[in-house]
Amino acid sequence: MSAEPILPSLLPDSAQLSERDVVVGGVSLRDLAATYGTPLFVYDEATLRSRCREAASAFDDGVAFAAKSFLCGAMARLAFEEGLCIDVATGGELDVVLRSGVPASRIIVHGNNKSHDELERALAVGVHRLVIDSFDEIDRIRSLVSTTKPLDCLVRVTPGVEAHTHEYVRTGQEDSKFGFSVATGDARRAVLELRAISGVTLHGVHAHIGSQIFDLAGFRESLGVLADFVKHDGFDELCVGGGLGVAYVAGERAPSITEWASAMRTGARELGLDSSMRLLAEPGRAIVAQAGITLYSVGVVKPVSQRTYVAVDGGMSDNPRPVLYGSGYEVFDVSRPLAERSQSARLVGKHCESGDVLIDEAWLPELTGVGDVIATPVTGAYGYAMASNYNRVPRPAVVFVADGHAREVLRRETFDDLARLEV
Ligand code: LLP
Repeated sequence: MSAEPILPSLLPDSAQLSERDVVVGGVSLRDLAATYGTPLFVYDEATLRSRCREAASAFDDGVAFAAKSFLCGAMARLAFEEGLCIDVATGGELDVVLRSGVPASRIIVHGNNKSHDELERALAVGVHRLVIDSFDEIDRIRSLVSTTKPLDCLVRVTPGVEAHTHEYVRTGQEDSKFGFSVATGDARRAVLELRAISGVTLHGVHAHIGSQIFDLAGFRESLGVLADFVKHDGFDELCVGGGLGVAYVAGERAPSITEWASAMRTGARELGLDSSMRLLAEPGRAIVAQAGITLYSVGVVKPVSQRTYVAVDGGMSDNPRPVLYGSGYEVFDVSRPLAERSQSARLVGKHCESGDVLIDEAWLPELTGVGDVIATPVTGAYGYAMASNYNRVPRPAVVFVADGHAREVLRRETFDDLARLEV
């Protein structure tokens, strides 16, 4: 067996492949590896901007980029510039977005366990929306809202929908730590409690059924549950959350953001929702995944009797998704992108555990050797965002490329960075 050369459809929009190089945003991946070292996250600004614009035009104003998928100041500013709000899930994410200069009036705050301090800051800066998740949170809001500014909210409901995706990234089902159950009446009770708090304006409902979803049927089902609230309570805002899937490997096909929005609009019409109702979403992965590529250097090629291990200079600390969710990826040699990938290998990292596998059965060009720079595409979402310092491995740098220029937006961590918390 062997694999065809890497599919261009898995690469960023601006990628150009030639016999000996891949150029993204007008910059050679080989040059980037030489300049910034590896591992390195490379993001194509053209892809990021085009996905943001697509979301901004497909949904109504208030559609947000889910910062949890990849966040730094440059990313927050880019999404804001392209017309999106930013959805944050913690005080830390809120802080990054505020420091980036994005106005609070474009920030949506989520979280199933927002602390008193997180709520206080969100209220003090005046965020666009706070998405209410529990009765305990409503109690905290009650004590905070009178002493600060008025608060604009959505209520998060659990629609009782089982998305067809990995169990760890499913959130719409009844048995969930997120939101208020519709089936038990909690969601209805939450609406009444929130409406009774002066200073709180409840604009509508929100649901997020899960992540990496290819089948739009689950979103359609969730929309039906949300539509009941919107009609019954006279709300004018409905957010179907994030969760649109992306293709990671050859053979996968995901709906585009435009197709997703259009299915939601058709659904809303069929459900009899007023055309003035604001239809919103919060894509994360669909905005950033395909824009990002990780570059690694091969350090060891070790044939054993069962297979060959190819070890790179990163691993589960920069991409924990294969270990956490069994997610598949592809790999290619940046100096031979058009070559047939006829060498099978297990692509592993440098961490001190056998589970540190990036690709269980990877296909690389014949004679891939020490020093070669290889790349895993579609690593823009939940890679850097979930990166760790396991084994005290410093986090990679992140560069954005556009119009023939690269700019470092996050520098590589150093051992001094790792030592800074020692007291
Ligand atoms: N909105 C809410 C309320 C969410 O909880 C999430 C993701 C999103 C939006 C964005 O979802 P996306 O469009 O990116 O699928 N670490 C996992 C994904 C966890 C997603 C958690 N919430 C992974 O690597 O697959």
